[in-house]
Amino acid sequence: MPQSLQNIAYLVAGVLFILSLGGLSKQASAGRGNAFGIAGMVIALVATAAHPAVKGYGVLAAAIGIGAVIGAVLAARVAMTSMPQLVAVLHSFVGAAAVLVGVASFLAPPADLTGAEAVIHEVEVFLGVFIGAITFTGSIVAYGKLQGLIRSKPLLLPGRHLANLAMVGASALLCAQFLSAQEHGGLQPLLIMTAIAGVLGIHLVMAIGGADMPVVVSMLNSYSGWAAAAAGFMLANDLLIITGALVGSSGAILSYIMCKAMNRSIVSVIFGGFGADEGAAPAKGAGEPQGEVVSVTAAETATLLAEAKSVVVVPGYGMAVAQAQYPLWEVAKLLVDRGVKVRFAIHPVAGRLPGHMNVLLAEAKVPYDIVLEMDEINEDFPETDAVLVIGANDIVNPGALDDTSSPIYGMPVLEVWKAKSCVVMKRSMASGYAGVENPLFFKENTRMLFGDAKKTVDAILDELRAATGAKAA
Ligand code: TAP
Repeated sequence: MPQSLQNIAYLVAGVLFILSLGGLSKQASAGRGNAFGIAGMVIALVATAAHPAVKGYGVLAAAIGIGAVIGAVLAARVAMTSMPQLVAVLHSFVGAAAVLVGVASFLAPPADLTGAEAVIHEVEVFLGVFIGAITFTGSIVAYGKLQGLIRSKPLLLPGRHLANLAMVGASALLCAQFLSAQEHGGLQPLLIMTAIAGVLGIHLVMAIGGADMPVVVSMLNSYSGWAAAAAGFMLANDLLIITGALVGSSGAILSYIMCKAMNRSIVSVIFGGFGADEGAAPAKGAGEPQGEVVSVTAAETATLLAEAKSVVVVPGYGMAVAQAQYPLWEVAKLLVDRGVKVRFAIHPVAGRLPGHMNVLLAEAKVPYDIVLEMDEINEDFPETDAVLVIGANDIVNPGALDDTSSPIYGMPVLEVWKAKSCVVMKRSMASGYAGVENPLFFKENTRMLFGDAKKTVDAILDELRAATGAKAA
């Protein structure tokens, strides 16, 4: 393929990636966004493979084939609830690739580089390897924490910020040594820095508490983008630079949005230890009773919902585990048929990955216009007759607003307790992801409906059908 044609193909792929990101920003256009992304990636792969410098097509086909099979099997098997872990592992691959490309590019630099250009190339190599190594080890630790292989409590070593600073300082000194070395003499400082950056990645993510992990995954997403962009500079590949910058900046913007949604300072999240100060009073444990809870049956819940004028449904991680979205939408439809105003309220960090609840509700064909974001619905709770909290816990915890000792203190939450009545569906009194007790369960207008979310929604559906004479679909 001539260079000019490849440039055009890269440009088209770049535009498709931008359209893809635009499409993915809204649920209604997400399918189209995905299609743009796939088309862009196919064009990018074909154009790159068709470059005259690419010779070993057999090896390339084998590598793509094996990668595609592993990727397809993993994607088909992974449970929606384990998606963050998968994403973390995929980020580690990008980090590892940036390190390998960097070292290879240093050992076999482009032949025509001299003077300032050669120095710029070496700086690109050093930075690419530095970011890549942090991304690689940081993502593996993030995977371990999300998978429960490593404890999610932050590791707060004394003088940890100084240690981080020392590692960055040592890497800067090694960079100077690397740039002034002759021939392959720079390999040693490059490899030492890789090891230091690897330790830095582990230390940075180990210091972050479980409640902040969503932001960490999106930060690592951003790092992996910058690592890819650095690899693009090393390889003089414009498309890799564009794609890396898109991933890097969109990951950074998503991290910022999530930090805002959780009222976290992005700097504290990056450097760890937020909400886990050594001297702070311990948060209220999950086992401390705060009073009496009142439980209800599915039949009573069905009556409450049917008699309400307006109902807000708040889904959380438990709905995803139980896969209760399908009967839930059947319940909502019956209520709508009875003239009840039904809406769904989505917290930005509900579930275990950004947009988790939106995806599940879309699967069940819930119309987008009744699915509202937290900011759009929070003011409506005082005028709401009944709230159905289904498998959600942290995102409806009033302690986030008034308990300064809570690890989630400061995180904006769905203020469901302001509604006339609130039914919380979960299996037990167990705490949610952040491991804190929820005072909502003990409020006067709260009723607990214990049981697996799918089974209890099915039971509510049966009750409503019996009351309305509706038949099962
Ligand atoms: P959680 O606070 O984790 O609460 C989920 C609740 O669902 C649990 O208390 C659990 O109680 C219940 N549950 C589990 N399985 C169930 C089942 N089969 N049927 C009924 N209930 C079930 O979830 P949330 O309110 O959605 O909040 C999300 C939390 O995850 C936040 O702390 C957030 O920071 C964190 N997080 C979010 C993300 C993203 S990006 N969304 C990523 C990682 C972490 P029982 O055991 O008593 O049933």
